[in-house]
Amino acid sequence: MENIRVDLGANSYDICIGSGLLRTGNMLLEKIQGRRVFVVSNQVVADHYLDRVRQQLKGVDVDVHLMPDGEQFKTLQTLEAIIGDLLAKGHNRSTTIVALGGGVVGDTAGYAAATYQRGVPFIQVPTTLLSQVDSSVGGKTAVNHELGKNMIGAFYQPKGVYIDTDTLLTLPERELSAGLAEIIKHGVLADSEYFDLIEKDIGQLRQKDEGALISAIKGSCQIKASVVAEDERESGKRALLNFGHTFAHAIETGMGYGQWLHGEAVGAGMVMAADLSARLGRCSLDDSQRIKALVKSAGLPIAGPAEVSTEAMLAFMAKDKKATDEGLRFVLIAGGIGKTDIVQDVPVSVLRQTLTAGLRLCE
Ligand code: NAD
Ligand code: GLY
Repeated sequence: MENIRVDLGANSYDICIGSGLLRTGNMLLEKIQGRRVFVVSNQVVADHYLDRVRQQLKGVDVDVHLMPDGEQFKTLQTLEAIIGDLLAKGHNRSTTIVALGGGVVGDTAGYAAATYQRGVPFIQVPTTLLSQVDSSVGGKTAVNHELGKNMIGAFYQPKGVYIDTDTLLTLPERELSAGLAEIIKHGVLADSEYFDLIEKDIGQLRQKDEGALISAIKGSCQIKASVVAEDERESGKRALLNFGHTFAHAIETGMGYGQWLHGEAVGAGMVMAADLSARLGRCSLDDSQRIKALVKSAGLPIAGPAEVSTEAMLAFMAKDKKATDEGLRFVLIAGGIGKTDIVQDVPVSVLRQTLTAGLRLCE
C-alpha cells in the first residue's frame, strides 16, 4: 500500500492507495471516532462497492443515503435531502460521513459534512480516476448553482482518503479518459518527469494496468498534496491546478453541462493553453505538440466543439470565476513542461488566434 501525507497542520491526513484496499483489513473502521457512520453514494457505485464498505465498517452503525447520479444533481436540493436524512435518522456531531463515489458524490457529501451541525468528520472513498487523482484530495467541497458551477461550497478537509484502484475495473472507458486529463495536467503544471512517465505508460493506463495506475495515482496525489500544503485556500500556487480550466469552463458553459465530461473539456483546454503558451514564446512548439499528442493518446478531444464560436468562448471566459478585477488570467507554461505560472496580461489578439486554431481543429 502507498501512503501520502497531506501536510496541513492540525488538518493533516493520509491518502492510502492500493489494489484491493476495500477487501482487506479494516482501515476505514480505524478512522471512525464515534459509533455511527453515514455513507453517501449513488445506486451505480453502491451496487458495485457498498457491500465492501459495509464489511470494512463492521462494529459501527451504518446508514446509507443514495443520491441521484449525475452532475445535474450536485445541487442545494440534493444537499437538503442529505441533511434531512441525517436529521431524520438522529445523527449528531460525532457521526462520520463517508463519500463513496466519484467527484459528484465527494463534492456534495463533503459540503454536507462541512455544514451539518457546523461540521462533522468526513472520509473520502473515491471510485473514479478523476476523483482519485484530484477531487478527493485538497478539501474543496461544493454544489452548483444554476448560474455557476461549484458556486456554493467550503474548504473542508477529510480525515482520510482511501483509494482502492480495483474500483476502476468497472469504470467506463470515457470516464477513465476524463481522469487521465487531470493526471496529464499535474505533469504539465509541476513535474516533467511525471509527464514523461505518463507519456510512457499511457497505453497501459488505458488498459487499466494495476502497476501503471498505482504509479500514476500516487504521482498525481503527491503533486496535488504538495501544492495544497503550500496554499490550502488558493491564494496563490493552488491556482496552478487550473491549467487548461479557463478554456474548459468556457467549453462546458458553451455546450451546457453534461454534454462534455469535465475531463474532456480539460483535455481540449490544456491543448489550447499549451498553444497559447507557445504563441507567447513561453514554451517551444515541440512542448505544445507533445501535450497535444498525449491528450489525444489518452482518448480525449484535442479541440473545442464546433458549436461554440471564438467570440462565444471569449464571452464565457470573461465571466469565468477565475477572472479577476484586472482581467482574464491564465495558467500558462513557464519555459517548458513541468513549470507554470499565472499570466494576467494576455493580448486578446493572440488569444483569438489560439481559439480560432483550437476550434478549427475540431475532429
Ligand atoms: P462523477 O462523480 O459524475 O462520476 C462519473 C460516473 O461514473 C457517474 O455516473 C458515477 O456514478 C460513475 N462511477 C463512479 N465510480 C464508478 C465505478 N467505480 N465504476 C463504474 N461507474 C462509476 O464524475 P467525476 O469525474 O468523478 O467527478 C466530476 C466532479 O468532480 C465534478 O462535479 C467536478 O466539479 C468535481 N471536481 C472537484 C474537484 C475538487 O477539488 N473538489 C476537482 C475536480 C473535479
Ligand atoms: N482541482 C483544483 C483544486 O483542487 O484546486
